[in-house]
Amino acid sequence: MRDHFRQIYRHQADMYERLVAREDQHGNLFEALIDIVPLHGLDVVEFGAGTGRLTRLLSLMARRVSAFDIEPAMLAEASLMLPTTGMSNWSLAIGDNARMPAASNSADLVIEGWSFAHIMEWHPQQWRERADAMLAEMRRILKPGGMALLIETLGTGRRQPQAPTPELATLYHYWESSCGFNMRWIRTDFQFASRSEADELTRFFFGDALADEFLAPRSVILPECTGIWWRRF
Ligand SMILES: C[S@@+](CC[C@H](N)C(=O)[O-])C[C@H]1O[C@@H](n2cnc3c(N)ncnc32)[C@H](O)[C@@H]1O
Repeated sequence: MRDHFRQIYRHQADMYERLVAREDQHGNLFEALIDIVPLHGLDVVEFGAGTGRLTRLLSLMARRVSAFDIEPAMLAEASLMLPTTGMSNWSLAIGDNARMPAASNSADLVIEGWSFAHIMEWHPQQWRERADAMLAEMRRILKPGGMALLIETLGTGRRQPQAPTPELATLYHYWESSCGFNMRWIRTDFQFASRSEADELTRFFFGDALADEFLAPRSVILPECTGIWWRRF
């Protein structure tokens, strides 16, 4: 799976966007975000923005969203999707989560969604250094008292939250016990347009084993639990 996701981000950004467009049809994520941090008038810096699904939500209320990702293909897809909101208070640029081209003390909110946790698979030996470097970047970019917010999976196919791997459990525990983050979880189920789409997009991203285990016959719903970690710096 190590190269599987990289290959998708490099070569199949359009398919990735088709998948995430089906997640959280009930809008639970937006509700939870504005409950944790009212977005009105905030300057936001987004790490690992991908095709911009969070960017789109954030731009509806924030003053400005500066979104970064390491993969040009993901940002190219984001640049196609973002104008669909009618908002123009966003920008997209290349940036590595550990070395962001964003000014110090410039953001009220720094946020990442489903990006940081890739270090557990891609850098299993240096995950701690990588995790610390990304949080240090968040802290550098934040204005004093600003909010850092992390969003990651707590189980695809699950109705109750559970870190999908021991490695992710280790990372989440580290954030909570050593880095001072609060956590809450929500459901962000995928709701597909048809059974064939459910099959196609689930297999494409999550693989056959997960699809075989968790896609119920004839169902177009794939349950998903999502964790939100946040703290002020
Ligand atoms: C699962 S996608 C999430 C994208 C988006 N945040 C969303 O909510 O759909 C993970 C993203 O993290 C990006 N990414 C992974 N490692 C990164 C790094 N070191 N710096 C910046 N972006 C990174 C990938 O290119 C990909 O776009």
